[in-house]
Amino acid sequence: MKHPVKVYLEKGKTYHFCTCGKSADGVICDGSHKGSDFTPKAFVATRTGEALLCRCKKSGNLPYCDGTHAKHEKLDLDFLLNET
Ligand code: FES
Repeated sequence: MKHPVKVYLEKGKTYHFCTCGKSADGVICDGSHKGSDFTPKAFVATRTGEALLCRCKKSGNLPYCDGTHAKHEKLDLDFLLNET
């Protein structure tokens, strides 16, 4: 399950969103993508405070979570329940 990760952001500060999913927290690039075709996505925080960043990488509002992971989790669960 790829639930979002709560992080603390500072308004005006640039962060690098992990697009490969291999970073330690799954949302902030730590260089683990090296050797892959992935590159981090830079973004500037628009406010100071906690934010939920997307870890499933399917949000329509990257880097922020928009709840899309819940739909995919349901599809995964449906698949498992129907598996024979
Ligand atoms: S560690 Fe994932 S993009 Fe850098």
